[in-house]
Amino acid sequence: MRDIRKEFPGVRALDGVTLDVREGVVHALMGENGAGKSTLMKVLSGVHPAGTYGGEILLAGEPCSFGGVVDSERAGIAIIHQELALVPQLSITENVLLGHEVSRFGVVDWGATHTRARELLRRVGLDENPATPVSALGIGAQQLVEIAKALAKRVRLLILDEPTSALNETESQRLLDLLGELREQGVTCILISHKLGEVVSVSDEITILRDGRAIETLTVERDTDGTPSVDEDRIIRGMVGRSLDRRHPEPIGEIGPVRFEVIDWTVDHPTQPGRRVVDGVDLHVRAGEIVGLAGLMGAGRTEFAMSLFGRSYGRHVRGLLLKDGTPLAVPDVTAAVRGGLAYVPEDRKTLGLLLDDDIRHNTTLAGLRHVSRYGVVDQERETVEARRMSERMRVRSHGTAQTVRTLSGGNQQKVVLGKWMFTRPELLILDEPTRGIDVGAKYEIHLLIRRLAAEGTAVLLISSELPEVLGMCDRIHTMCEGRLTGEVPAAEADQETLMKLMTRTGDRP
Ligand SMILES: Nc1ncnc2c1ncn2[C@@H]1O[C@H](COP(=O)(O)OP(=O)(O)OP(=O)(O)O)[C@@H](O)[C@H]1O
Ligand SMILES: [Mg+2]
Repeated sequence: MRDIRKEFPGVRALDGVTLDVREGVVHALMGENGAGKSTLMKVLSGVHPAGTYGGEILLAGEPCSFGGVVDSERAGIAIIHQELALVPQLSITENVLLGHEVSRFGVVDWGATHTRARELLRRVGLDENPATPVSALGIGAQQLVEIAKALAKRVRLLILDEPTSALNETESQRLLDLLGELREQGVTCILISHKLGEVVSVSDEITILRDGRAIETLTVERDTDGTPSVDEDRIIRGMVGRSLDRRHPEPIGEIGPVRFEVIDWTVDHPTQPGRRVVDGVDLHVRAGEIVGLAGLMGAGRTEFAMSLFGRSYGRHVRGLLLKDGTPLAVPDVTAAVRGGLAYVPEDRKTLGLLLDDDIRHNTTLAGLRHVSRYGVVDQERETVEARRMSERMRVRSHGTAQTVRTLSGGNQQKVVLGKWMFTRPELLILDEPTRGIDVGAKYEIHLLIRRLAAEGTAVLLISSELPEVLGMCDRIHTMCEGRLTGEVPAAEADQETLMKLMTRTGDRP
């Protein structure tokens, strides 16, 4: 890609980027939220068609200009977007092979099509019946379906925009191994990721973008025992312009009395009667305390959090929630918010934001009472408050009137966080709060969480990233198959202990 320039109203997203990717390598693209990574890849794959950007694209030496994704696919380029784009009502097979069904005499041969889908699922390591509707899959499994879908087309260049952000350690590793295999087969991969560890372990080349410009490209050499010539600190310096000597901020403030307590919380699956998804969970969170909930995908952490948050999930939600020792009824979300609960969901696109509304309205949406007088929203005050929150969260935008859909992924995440912080919650439940957030901004968000705790907020932190759980929490619960399987003070915990407790399936201790 030569001297690529791309502007949106009010923003220059790409300011003359030149990117060279050698054939048959894994090339990582890194940079802060809003640096222009996704935009550059949308240019390359025809999502932003020829004519809407400046500069030139050469594929194997040949200039090419794509009028749309169909053109780039024909040239062997496939892109997997940061925000998944599956059709939820359709089955895995239909999603994977949409437009590529196996047919005989013009009629789709469903048997053969399912078989083909099953092969592709095996390749990405997803153990699911191909007839399952995609809506029944978790976000991690959906990511694997996306990859299977790309493999169904004949790809020469596979672009993955933050493919592992929703995956747990095991699944991420499987995906990275898959990239290695694809490289052996001569497929070139461009990988966008904020996870330094995986970038260092899998890439051959790393390009760092900052403010719409390519800052540098590092070549990763590996010596005989596989040690890479580029380490995480080197990348951080390239991205942030300085080293980060600490990855997690120190605890500040005191831990107070028990603020929220949950007793024997049990939840059934919404559609499968009798199937328990959350089973007898007992836990408490003190004022100023950050309690971690660690578990593998499907452990029931999100289901627990959502059922607590005004029964947003599940059937027959039973158990007791106490606030300062008194039972708190949370029959619906309104009651939960009024009771001081806030839940920042993991799936921001469908649950967290009004994508077509602006930053201002999204920020104040759940806390309108803080900007209203006599039941009427004071718009001036709303703008001031939204601007303040936006600055506090360091949202990169061209003002609070910007539509949330047009923000970069990480900045959308910051808006969701800001929205719930704006409700001034007493119990803040965070579900994968820094997914897709760059290292610098992650530190800032961690600092914000610490400050909220220091002000007396009780925090429940759900995260699949064990270093985050270990670095941020005072106490950690592990969850497996709907039950709590262990409780460890963070000071005594390490990744190995947590992993063991997270995979323990026996009876409760
Ligand atoms: N459709 C659009 N309309 C207006 N502005 C846009 C649009 N798409 C992207 N931008 C802006 O372009 C800039 C680059 O965004 P981009 O999504 O490429 O960032 P990114 O590097 O992928 O960030 P992240 O790590 O958060 O995903 C941002 O300032 C973003 O707000
Ligand atoms: Mg992006």
